[in-house]
Amino acid sequence: MNERMGVAPRLAVRKVHAAYGPYRALFDVSLHVGAGEVVALLGANGAGKTTIARVVSGLLAPTRGAVFLDGESIGGERPYRIARMGVAHVPEGRSVFSSLTVEENLTLAFRQQLAAREVSSALDEAYVVFPRLRERRAQPAGTLSGGEQRMLALARVLVRPPKVLVADEPSLGLAPVVVADVYRTLDRIRSDGTALLLIEQHVHQAATIADRVVVLKRGRVTFEGPVSALDDSVLTEAIGDQVASGDSPSGSSEPTPPAEDADPFS
Ligand SMILES: Nc1ncnc2c1ncn2[C@@H]1O[C@H](COP(=O)(O)OP(=O)(O)OP(=O)(O)O)[C@@H](O)[C@H]1O
Ligand SMILES: [Mg+2]
Repeated sequence: MNERMGVAPRLAVRKVHAAYGPYRALFDVSLHVGAGEVVALLGANGAGKTTIARVVSGLLAPTRGAVFLDGESIGGERPYRIARMGVAHVPEGRSVFSSLTVEENLTLAFRQQLAAREVSSALDEAYVVFPRLRERRAQPAGTLSGGEQRMLALARVLVRPPKVLVADEPSLGLAPVVVADVYRTLDRIRSDGTALLLIEQHVHQAATIADRVVVLKRGRVTFEGPVSALDDSVLTEAIGDQVASGDSPSGSSEPTPPAEDADPFS
């Protein structure tokens, strides 16, 4: 946090505990993301990454601790209010309205974010980033392939950069060429000033755009620092051999394309 300079980070999670009924999922988790910064949240399956995303977007109330947007507490606000304040969340998995077409899904999302006259240019932009969605614009979203549904879920938030974007495994199930498109778009969003909390199992992929990493293990932060400080021993200890070696444990059969530069693991 930039507390010395008196500037609150765009997003701050402070000493958050969270639980699902009796099951305690997060313990004393603190992290922050500045405007224009990318923080990769890494950790094995079940570590609590998605739970942090849910706490930030208001879907799960922390049992202790608080979440701040530009220094203001947003804890206890309803999810739709948090979304209106500029916190966008691309959840894990398929999160589209199945019976609506691709274009109806996009139009609905853009109407919530934009003035009416901006909707059609936003649609054009979304189709430039994801040409596949243009081809499939009249198709009910529920009949899209898994990867196409991820594209649609992303396109809904990528067109107008939010203050904070929490992207939960945005590349899962996408072909390498589409992953590259998604990451280019995430990088553009960051350069427009969005604070990006990027949940990834593909460590090498995340490292291509992350400024810092936070490693979560069984609901606790076990490492926080610049990407360059993350070496294989930290990763193997925290996440396990599978992820540290670059494989995906999450069921994606797509290989991760090697990072071209800024890869501290090679
Ligand atoms: N609705 C729920 N009810 C009970 N337990 C839950 C619920 N959702 C998640 N959990 C548990 O909380 C823990 C953290 O889950 P979470 O989804 O945050 O993990 P994750 O790090 O996102 O994992 P993955 O990489 O597999 O997506 C897990 O042990 C999970 O089983
Ligand atoms: Mg998850």
